[in-house]
Amino acid sequence: MSTIPTTQLIDALKWRYATKKFDSAKKIPADTWAALEESLVLTPSSFGAQPWKFLVVNTPELRAKLVPVSWGQTQVVDASHLVVFAFKQNLDEAHIDRYIASAAQIRGITVEAMDPFKKIIMGSLEGARAKGYLDVWQSRQIYIALGQFMASAALLGIDTCPMEGIDPAKYDEILGLTGTGYTTLCACPAGYRSADDKYATTPKVRFPLSEVIAHL
Ligand SMILES: Cc1cc2nc3c(=O)[nH]c(=O)nc-3n(C[C@H](O)[C@H](O)[C@H](O)COP(=O)(O)O)c2cc1C
Repeated sequence: MSTIPTTQLIDALKWRYATKKFDSAKKIPADTWAALEESLVLTPSSFGAQPWKFLVVNTPELRAKLVPVSWGQTQVVDASHLVVFAFKQNLDEAHIDRYIASAAQIRGITVEAMDPFKKIIMGSLEGARAKGYLDVWQSRQIYIALGQFMASAALLGIDTCPMEGIDPAKYDEILGLTGTGYTTLCACPAGYRSADDKYATTPKVRFPLSEVIAHL
């Protein structure tokens, strides 16, 4: 693996900002978009269970319907691409079986050999379900994907806007998720900033490193 200079990483992270206004005329090239989809697939998750679905909404009519249920935020129509992040509610044994089967196949071992691992996962899931935090736990995984997606995009010169200012239930209805077991958490338009988005040059507001990072 080749590495990049540290300055390139920090420059990209400083260049990234929550884009309020996208240039609707500019489209992300197919190979760049393919890499960004791959960054979603490569996201790590608890036990590797991947309790998610990433909906890439390309249909203009669907995008238009999402604006009024996104606090009127027009990034969902103006950006080149739009990803909606959904997580699997009530994560169950069927999902874990699918995961174990794929792991066994990819690693060339039997499903039976993975039984001890499956038992550990199911024990954790059932414990979380009993205590009522299973969905909270799984939904956290989605934000790892969101962060990885935005950082990857920035390194490729692609702008993004993380968006929780949406109505998840309405998104589920419009995108056909209702009743599938998957539900919307957030969205992330991606594309190119508009030349007149004043937020691009607004200084970042962050607490000093010395206040948020403790060295013990
Ligand atoms: C999970 C999450 C949800 C957010 N939701 C919205 C949103 O709905 N609309 C928006 O314009 N910005 C949204 N933001 C952007 C934040 O306001 C922004 O990231 C923060 O102010 C820091 O600014 P910067 O990203 O430009 O550095 C969201 C950010 C995160 C991480």
